[in-house]
Amino acid sequence: MRIILVGYEGHMGREVRASAGRLEKTEIVCGVDPMIKEDTEACVRSFADVRAEADVVIDFSHHSMTRELLDFAKARNLPLVLATTGQTEEEHLAIREAAKEIPVFLAANYSLGIAVLTDLVKRALALYPDAEVEIVEEHHDRKLDAPSGTALSLFDAVKEVRPEARAVMGRSGQGKRQPEDVGLHAIRMGNTVGKHQVIIGTQNETLTLTHQAWSRGVFADGSLKAAAFLMGKGPGLYDMKSLLNNAD
Ligand SMILES: NC(=O)c1ccc[n+]([C@@H]2O[C@H](COP(=O)([O-])OP(=O)(O)OC[C@H]3O[C@@H](n4cnc5c(N)ncnc54)[C@H](O)[C@@H]3O)[C@@H](O)[C@H]2O)c1
Repeated sequence: MRIILVGYEGHMGREVRASAGRLEKTEIVCGVDPMIKEDTEACVRSFADVRAEADVVIDFSHHSMTRELLDFAKARNLPLVLATTGQTEEEHLAIREAAKEIPVFLAANYSLGIAVLTDLVKRALALYPDAEVEIVEEHHDRKLDAPSGTALSLFDAVKEVRPEARAVMGRSGQGKRQPEDVGLHAIRMGNTVGKHQVIIGTQNETLTLTHQAWSRGVFADGSLKAAAFLMGKGPGLYDMKSLLNNAD
């Protein structure tokens, strides 16, 4: 599998390179990173300068690159693994449009554990229709977006079971908690790779479901699995559920 890696010099870009290096028949044929000082044999600053033939694009960069990334993947008819988070509504719309032309794998979190956590949250909420729910996430101090894309996707999972759920970012100025409120709280410090907690509580008990990523390698491995999954797939929007169902 020949990969074009967007965000080549970022933390995740380096993890994907390390993970790909451990796999057979998997090669990063070109990196794209607008922040590097000058083009090298391995990595260029602009999509226009990508000459290598490839089978798939993996993106761990910045949401501001969404448009040119989608244009590039569509023009080259390449499947796209989109791992960057923090996209605007408009960018999300563009992603859904692009998925009508090419296969796009989109996940705010490529770890298997988060896919399992998401499933557990939905199952628990079906059993606790009146429980209060809060989502707390913790990441390193360099993270740009808050709350994390994963926290937002956990909220989406809550909303699947409770359509009336309302996301409340922090609690300042919110007044008394309303039954439909789901608090989302972001902690930013140190080098935390990623911790997500979904707290489900009644007046009598509290159930806390926690996922902790210990290494960025978990996201890199997941993105490479997603890339392999996309081989031979038709246009469409795929996610971690598609990957889990495929493993059955
Ligand atoms: N889906 C997942 O499982 C998952 C896991 C980890 C990180 N992420 C996301 O991947 C992205 C990259 O994460 P990272 O930790 O490697 O970040 P990083 O800051 O270390 O790297 C960002 C990369 O994007 C490039 N870039 C392009 N335009 C940029 C801009 N305007 N501002 C900043 N950087 C720009 C940088 O050059 C760099 O290569 C983030 O959106 C992060 O939230 C997703």
